[in-house]
Amino acid sequence: AAAEKGNYRHFMQKEIFEQPDSTARTIGAYLNVLNQTVTLPEENGEAIDWKEITSLQMVACGTAHYATRVAEYWFEQVAGIPVKTDIASEFRYRDPALPRTGGLAIFVSQSGETADTLAALRYCKAQGLKTAAVVNVPTSTIAREADLVLPTLAGPEIGVASTKAFTAQLSALAAVAISAGRAREMLSRDAEIRLVRALTELPRLISTTLALDERIEALARDIAKATDVIYLGRGVHYPIALEGALKLKEISYIHAEGYASGELKHGPIALIDEETPVVFVAPFDGLFDKSLSNLQEVAARRGEVILISDEAGLRAAGEAPAHRIELPDCDPFIAPILYSVPVQLLAYHVAVEKGTDVDQPRNLAKSVTVE
Ligand code: G6P
Repeated sequence: AAAEKGNYRHFMQKEIFEQPDSTARTIGAYLNVLNQTVTLPEENGEAIDWKEITSLQMVACGTAHYATRVAEYWFEQVAGIPVKTDIASEFRYRDPALPRTGGLAIFVSQSGETADTLAALRYCKAQGLKTAAVVNVPTSTIAREADLVLPTLAGPEIGVASTKAFTAQLSALAAVAISAGRAREMLSRDAEIRLVRALTELPRLISTTLALDERIEALARDIAKATDVIYLGRGVHYPIALEGALKLKEISYIHAEGYASGELKHGPIALIDEETPVVFVAPFDGLFDKSLSNLQEVAARRGEVILISDEAGLRAAGEAPAHRIELPDCDPFIAPILYSVPVQLLAYHVAVEKGTDVDQPRNLAKSVTVE
């Protein structure tokens, strides 16, 4: 196994650094670069007639669930389809009311074997819903049982904490959202070209972002001393804050919470003191001003602010953040995929600093095939 890690210390680190390739491969399966359009890989089951779809139900667990939470924003904004996302273990036991017609259920799973996600898929099929699966293992049970497979091509993921599978799930879901938006005439041809271009640029931008590794490693030495860390984000970056907190707690065992920045006042602000790092995931987009005022509230209470943003965002924030991580400028559509990378690197380096078993964190399993 040591050989397979190549020059990397851990599989997780190797998998983080594979993301320019794993996202490019996944995007390549969906984009028709020549025509600047999206073509869903239809050999994998029945095609979806997006004009007939009136609601979308997404079900998953863990990191895959956070991918659906990002996709919820995309499908609503780009394709105008009302979306519900659920944690599989909740969905399967609450007798969910499902649409009789026009419903599509999408199940997202790296392994394709998670017991709760599989049970949710079987429930939806029994209710007569059309089903699609975004899976990384094409031979898995979920892939076999869904009506349509939407593959992620991340390649085998060994580290228990999911990284390249997550960005591959996001890449595939982004492509599907564009395809749905186009089919439903919600997206103009120009808008489609813009979004396709943005996705095409993602792998290169991930490479640029990976060059922040040493900078994030230095920051991690500081964060490793904390007992609690808060992650905040708005819009599509709210689920990235949730995912950042999940990564940190899974592998460093530091208590971490992800929150929507706008909820700061409704709870987490009570936790802010000099000892509590607060990570803002906030590119300079239409919501940045709102995030900035939250950031200033934290700084005013002497919280240790870490701002992950771009040049314009960091300039606007001035001296308020104690630490700054500058990502390259990117199209807002792909920003949540790009901003996944620094939160993965931060969790990774904090865990290494703490000396935990990064690839096999205590009590966790790569795939939860029993309840
Ligand atoms: C476990 C893993 C997570 C993963 C989740 C869902 O908890 O430790 O990394 O996100 O299962 O797994 P799946 O294979 O369905 O994506």
